[in-house]
Amino acid sequence: MAQEPPFRALAPEHVQRLLRSCLEAKKSAYCPYSRFPVGAALLTGDGRIFSGCNVENACYPLGICAERTAIQKAISEGYKDFKAIAIASDLEDEFISPCGACRQVMREFGTNWAVYMTKPDGSYVVRTVEELLPASFGPEDLQKIK
Ligand code: THU
Repeated sequence: MAQEPPFRALAPEHVQRLLRSCLEAKKSAYCPYSRFPVGAALLTGDGRIFSGCNVENACYPLGICAERTAIQKAISEGYKDFKAIAIASDLEDEFISPCGACRQVMREFGTNWAVYMTKPDGSYVVRTVEELLPASFGPEDLQKIK
């Protein structure tokens, strides 16, 4: 597989669009069990945004996180070149941090793209997928068997 291009910071207008979209997506969260709404917004290489929310289920393990909802929406619409994902929750004092399962699913589509972890006031910290999931296992590893 070709090497990934170097990480490039997002233009400020893309960041603002993403932040607005993940906040908007949070309003659709279906979380009657946890009462912990989360929204995500995923930016593709060509500037499209796919949003997602967490969708829980009475059979608890079937619930899915906002980040994976957004990624599955994008993949199923034919997009897999991702530049960034932004995540919003109602936690006022902490930047929402993606769970391990979501980190691994992000990693499937590259290690060198940005994760914006936000607070409701619009502040954020940004990390690459590589920083959130170092020394990861990914699709390239499956090609290394001799
Ligand atoms: N959740 C997300 O959707 N994304 C995260 O980054 C953290 C957790 C969801 C899963 C579940 O519906 C609820 O938040 C409580 O864990």
